[in-house]
Amino acid sequence: MTDPAKAFYLTTPIYYVNDAPHIGHAYTTVAGDVMTRWHRMAGEDVWFLTGTDEHGQKVLRSAEANGLSPQEWADKLVADAWIPVLETIDAANDDFIRTTQPRHMERVQRFLTQLKDQGFIVEGAYEGPYCVGCEEFKLAGDLITNDAGEQLCPIHSKPVETVSETNWFFVLSQFTDKLIAHYEANPQAIRPESAYNEVMSFLRSGLQDLSISRSTFDWGIEVPWDPSQVVYVWFDALLNYATAVGLGDDPSSEGGKKFAHTWPADVHVVGKDILRFHAVIWPAMLMAANLPLPGCVFAHGWLLVGGEKMSKSKLTGISADSIVNLVGSDAFRYYFMRAIIFGQDGSFSWEDLVARYTSELANGLGNLASRSQAMVGKYFDGLLPAPSEYTAADLSLQELLASVSAIADEKIRNFDFQGGILAVKDFIDAVNLYVTEQEPWVVAKDEANTERLGTILYTICDSLRAISVLYAAIMPKAMGQLWEHIGAVESGLTYTMSGVATWGQLKPGVAITKSESMFPRIEEPESI
Ligand code: ME8
Ligand code: MG
Repeated sequence: MTDPAKAFYLTTPIYYVNDAPHIGHAYTTVAGDVMTRWHRMAGEDVWFLTGTDEHGQKVLRSAEANGLSPQEWADKLVADAWIPVLETIDAANDDFIRTTQPRHMERVQRFLTQLKDQGFIVEGAYEGPYCVGCEEFKLAGDLITNDAGEQLCPIHSKPVETVSETNWFFVLSQFTDKLIAHYEANPQAIRPESAYNEVMSFLRSGLQDLSISRSTFDWGIEVPWDPSQVVYVWFDALLNYATAVGLGDDPSSEGGKKFAHTWPADVHVVGKDILRFHAVIWPAMLMAANLPLPGCVFAHGWLLVGGEKMSKSKLTGISADSIVNLVGSDAFRYYFMRAIIFGQDGSFSWEDLVARYTSELANGLGNLASRSQAMVGKYFDGLLPAPSEYTAADLSLQELLASVSAIADEKIRNFDFQGGILAVKDFIDAVNLYVTEQEPWVVAKDEANTERLGTILYTICDSLRAISVLYAAIMPKAMGQLWEHIGAVESGLTYTMSGVATWGQLKPGVAITKSESMFPRIEEPESI
């Protein structure tokens, strides 16, 4: 159910440029990319935003440690690492926002001034524990104690620091009841359910006002009415989702029109580490400004290393390149969406990656495509034969296609990427079984059976046409090629999800060409 007057708008977190990305960041971006490609393939207007979070102490300290100014450090990491990884994983984002861009900083200042004028920002004093890794003011109950009696952040396993400052405060406590009422009325606004329950119990324990400025360092957006303070990095960062699409611009301006067409976001995809910021602070900020709230925050699980969250700060990251160089971007995307239930934690393993690549992609799908293309080449000079009368076996594949397409659509739109992929995989397995049972190479031995042989090969090719659409969002490169090689372009078809299950779209007589192996066999990497 998408409103045609509004784009389907999905965001990833904007990532800290304290270091280069690892597969945890790539995982979130791939999920967002798969979801937005799915909606785009269905013909919807889509806006997909990602970017980088560049202010705050965490980035400042890593710049200092590397002997650069924070702006130089951010510029370097964005150019050398954060932009390139998008190509590595084949993400088709529509925009990339950096919080150091004037378009963002100006709109943040305007928003802040508005909230101050409306009485939602007041002066106050703060003293309490702060985790620079999280850039978060911590509550006593959030912390763990180590053997030496120090208070640690449970995510970063590092001692918290004490912050004691006079700051500007956002009156977050005033929004407790409104947030509870909003989520009671819209339980689908926080997913999965475990995330919903976590936020609700946090809200029911009551909210405190939030310090939204800092005075002890200056790497941030200046508070417009108080140059001695910079905006707290999370207050700055959360606003990116709205500043990127024209927050606060005159309705008749380009930014204003973009905002009307895009806001509110339909989905903020985030890791569960930053759920509270997105499901508590962010909607309260929007409520204060009287703006519509996002449709949903989806908090996915963590990629774990040795049972702990893979992390830049702990240097436990695996780069996306190291995997993509082995299996390619399509298989990278497929693997993470298929192997881990979205919303739960998962451990990456090279063995599991190689095993699934080989059985599901190289043997399952790749082999089906290359065998079929070879048989059309051998028996029909590479031209797609026309089908004649369909048998029960043919018809049952056509019916299965209709049901798996509907299931895949329902699952993927509901963030069950694994379920969506498995529905398509069921169909691929059924087509492979069909090939085994129909034995076209035996049918081909008797010329009297040419019509039947044509029907079998047509059935396989039109199935591959549908598969190249259903998997397009997951594996855009390989499926785009399959779509061409299976004769869909020459048949004059439009590459879209609508009508994917309508049988018989390929035009008999079009050329079926052999793809270079879509999923070449791989040598096991040395790290195994
Ligand atoms: O939190 N497993 O940035 P960040 C899965 N700048 N996902 C992971 C992951 C892992 N091990 N590690 C990181 C910030 N991620 C803020 C966000 S948004 C307004 C500001 C992913 O660089 C996951 O999406 O620490 C997580 O929430 C995000 O990267 C945190 O990235
Ligand atoms: Mg982090």
